[in-house]
Order: sequence, then structure tokens, then C-alpha cells
Amino acid sequence: MLKKVESLLAEVMAFNSQDLNAIEQFRIRLLGKKGEITLLFTQFKEVPNADKKAFGQELNNLKTQAIEKINLLKSGPANKTEEENTLDYSRPAETFSLGSRHPISIVRNEIIEIFSKIGFSVSEGPEIEDDWHNFTALNFPEEHPARDMQDTFFIDKHIALRTHTSSVQVRVMEESSPPIRTISPGRVFRNEAISARAHCIFHQVEGLYIDKDVSFADLKQTLLYFAKEMFGEKTEIRLRPSYFPFTEPSAEVDVSCNLCKGAGCNVCKNSGFLEILGCGMVDPNVLENCGIDSSVYTGFAFGMGIERIAMLKFGVNDLRHFFENDIRFLKQFRSTV
Ligand code: DAH
Repeated sequence: MLKKVESLLAEVMAFNSQDLNAIEQFRIRLLGKKGEITLLFTQFKEVPNADKKAFGQELNNLKTQAIEKINLLKSGPANKTEEENTLDYSRPAETFSLGSRHPISIVRNEIIEIFSKIGFSVSEGPEIEDDWHNFTALNFPEEHPARDMQDTFFIDKHIALRTHTSSVQVRVMEESSPPIRTISPGRVFRNEAISARAHCIFHQVEGLYIDKDVSFADLKQTLLYFAKEMFGEKTEIRLRPSYFPFTEPSAEVDVSCNLCKGAGCNVCKNSGFLEILGCGMVDPNVLENCGIDSSVYTGFAFGMGIERIAMLKFGVNDLRHFFENDIRFLKQFRSTV
């Protein structure tokens, strides 16, 4: 009987057909009611007890192999539906669609990278800020009209959403001692009507450098280095006198227009220059407010809007694009930083 099992197993292994009829005949011959394997099961009781275990295993194995083989052949290529057979397994797979970073993140990361090369660290502060850090320590006296320069979202009388990242320079100076070289990127909030040039939420980067003998020349050189790294080697900068309560003297900085290369176009209103940031030497009052001896240390600070830099860099003419998250806009930006 064992011989019979072995020869049937060999037959099962060798059997091959794509003809459904032939496969069914084969099944009936082996596994049908009077099939050869079925018959072997009925004869099982005649096997001597000592051999039952080994024989049982062989017989079960034969049955499993036969069922598997029959199922396999029935689902073979010739026995598939037409639709199943038209699937082309050699077709290239669909390509991965990679996301892209938001242009504001791209520019923020680039600013961080540019300043980190000259030793600036990154610091952060809270978006909900108190009056001291956002205004008073920065030389905005209470009731001073300079507070109107920035339309503030107040939470209560002394707490507001920060209107600029200059609040972080106060925190850094309070918490550490010179030399300090840091930039502070973050979100800021102003109660402004939303337009192509303004939004109530936007991003700034504050810069602060405090040490002995820091001069206006250091400020100018640092900003020239930044402008060339960000907008290209040929970029020029221009400083115009300005006013900020926390710096003295103060200046606004323009870069040569990277669209017309200084020749004059409608983006730069034919001036050849575009404003990118405010800066100045940190007012000695501010240093003292933050516990730094102004007779020993001097420093400079600057603040820029990330959206503004991104608009100039990428030629975007409406600030609202940065907030709408329209995929057609976002997927134009690919970057590794
Ligand atoms: N905080 C100013 C603003 O939001 C920008 C600024 C100007 C920051 C001059 C500075 C600075 O640190 O020195 O408009």
C-alpha cells in the first residue's frame, strides 16, 4: 500500500495540464468518491498498528499535495478570466510622488544656514508675549506713539501676540551674557487687513550680536554677506537712516533688485533697489533693561520678514499665496534644505 501511495505522489507531482476538463478528470480519479486516494483512506484500517502512524502521514501528505496541485492548475494562466490575463506585470510601477517643503520653510532654513556659517546660533521665544518683552524692554515707553507702529492683538492689558521677533532678543539677553550671536526665526501677529503685501500672521527672523567693540561696520558687513549669500554674489546693499525705538542709530536696508539687476523695473518701482530689513546698533537703554553693561558692551540687531525675502527670491507677487496652501503653488518649490 505504501508503494501505491508513493506512485500516486509521483503521478501528482508530474501531472500538468491547462485543460480544465482534464484537471477535473484527474481530480475525480484521485479524490472523487471512488477515487484512488479516497479508497486508500477506506483501506487504512487494514494497515498493521505499528505502521499506522507512518502510513497515515504519507497518505495525508499525498492528499494535500493532490489538492494543492489541482487548485494550482485550475487557477493557471489559461484558466484565468480575460481581465486577469490582460494585466501586464512587466509594466513600470507608478512613480513615487515626493512632497516639497513650504517656500517659507525653505527660506527660513536658508537664512539659518547662512548665519550659522558665521557663528550665529538659533533661539526661540513664545508667540504669546508680555508687554515687557514685546515693548517696554525694547524702549517703547507706555503710551508712547511708537506702539502704534505695530497693530497689536491684545489678549489682556499686558499680554499680547508678539508683533515682532525682537521680543526674543530681550529674552536671550536676559538669560545669557555676552558674547551673544543669535538669530530668532518665528511667527508674528499684527492686526492688519490681509492684502497682496500684508497679512495678520507672518514670519520674521531677528538677529542679535552683542560683544565688546561691535561697530556699525560689523553690522554692514554682516548684512552684505547675508545679501550676497541669499540673492547672489553680485548683490549690492544700501542703508537708509530710519527710526526704531530699540536701535540707535537705525537703518533700513535695501538690496539691488534681482529681477532687473539694478536697471529699474516695476517690481522695484524703477529704483533698482528693494527693502528687505530693519537694523541698527542696540540702544544702550535696551542693553541696560536686559542686564547688560552698556559701558562695556555694544551690539547690533536686525529684523527681516521671511515672506518678503521669499517673494523677492522666488518672484512671488502676492503674499497670500504663502498661506493658501494651493498645491499648484507649493509643488513648484523643491529643495533639500
Ligand atoms: N522689529 C522690527 C519690525 O518688526 C524689525 C527690526 C528693525 C528689528 C530694526 C531689529 C531692528 O532688530 O534693529 O518692524
